[in-house]
Amino acid sequence: MLTQAPKGTRDMLPQDAYLWQWIEQKEREAAKLAGYREIRTPVFEHTELFLRGVGDTTDIVQKEMYTFKDKGDRSITLKPEGTAGAVRAFIENHLFQEALPCKVYYLNAPIFRYENPQSGRLREHHQFGMECFGGKEPTVEAELISTLYGFLTGLGLKNLCVHINSIGCPECRPKYHQALKNYLGERIHEMCETCQGRFEKNPLRILDCKEEKCKAIVKDAPLILDCLCDECREHFEQLQALLTAQGIPFQIDPHIVRGLDYYTKTVFEIIMQAGREGLALCGGGRYDGLVEQLGGPATPAAGFGIGAERILMELRNQNLLPEMPSVTDVYVANLGADMKIPAFTFAQGLRTKGVKADSDLAGRSLKAQFKFADKIGAKYIVIVGGDEYARGTVKLRNMESKEEKELPLDSAAEEISAMIQK
Ligand code: HAM
Repeated sequence: MLTQAPKGTRDMLPQDAYLWQWIEQKEREAAKLAGYREIRTPVFEHTELFLRGVGDTTDIVQKEMYTFKDKGDRSITLKPEGTAGAVRAFIENHLFQEALPCKVYYLNAPIFRYENPQSGRLREHHQFGMECFGGKEPTVEAELISTLYGFLTGLGLKNLCVHINSIGCPECRPKYHQALKNYLGERIHEMCETCQGRFEKNPLRILDCKEEKCKAIVKDAPLILDCLCDECREHFEQLQALLTAQGIPFQIDPHIVRGLDYYTKTVFEIIMQAGREGLALCGGGRYDGLVEQLGGPATPAAGFGIGAERILMELRNQNLLPEMPSVTDVYVANLGADMKIPAFTFAQGLRTKGVKADSDLAGRSLKAQFKFADKIGAKYIVIVGGDEYARGTVKLRNMESKEEKELPLDSAAEEISAMIQK
């Protein structure tokens, strides 16, 4: 137990750090080019925020939150998603008084859900998300989807499928709720208890149930796309025209309802064409009512979230992971105890010239230092000591070609730096 991470969590190990950094750099670039600025919000929030924001009939709130009482008897919840925290920060810090739209992104924020751990479902995962506050036009969703699509294809990913749907607004959704209730009728009693509980309160949620018997019943349910009001229909059509103009392949998928209650109008997911057990790579949509619902001024908004672990899983499936860069370019070996200070100083000098350099920290023999340098993949070894040092030089050895040459001590660091940068 002591040396076992909790179920559904993963360490990010040093050998994987470069992959996370690579993805994060691309995420930052993509968000920055679209005018989004970074936001960081706390890992935990008051539970009430998610009850009201995410919705008390969702799976996330009903089954998956990590909720506890703190020492002050407050109910606290580890963030089960990123949007509610961003909205809370937008309201609390009066960001609505700044130039709108206000566009923010969060970079691989830790998210906690008590899910059944299986391939692609973790209890702690990390989301890159972009949220736009104050834009009512479908250009907002088009910008989000284009940025996301560009980011994913920029990583080399292929077979991406953008699925879009509209789930209406407070104007047209009641009509759909009624159509759904009429369709379900008496059959609601054949459905699971959770669905029965959702029937009166939030029938749309029933479409999101993962139980086979419920899925079979809702398979032929009426579609919300057939109940949209004029404004929602027009918004959805404009979004399609915008995506078409960007050459982004998309599919209308009337079955997407998303697992969170705040959505209005557009919802979207990017899934892999191969369809890995229905796992979405990314999900998002418009949430025009949420800011007001949480106590802020009426502000249209939209965003998406994408799990870093899912991106990595897909990159691995498509054989697209870049090679690990070397940890050290140059290992500086000492030829004995009296050479420790000059070798250490030489390595420090290389670092100041931008060369990744390392030296002995373990009191090893020359042979053991060579072995270590080889293990960590150093491209070169500099040997400090012996006759060369007495002559005011050091020996440089290319680990691959085994070629050796002598360099004057006072210009060696400069020369090595120029060589490596080339
Ligand atoms: P979500 O669809 O629940 O949406 O999650 C977004 C993404 O997070 C998923 O598509 C997936 O990549 C990743 N993800 C979710 N759950 C897990 C899990 N258990 N293990 C690994 N990865 C997971 C949201 O959270 C919304 N806040 C997105 C949003 C932002 N909508 C508007 N703005």
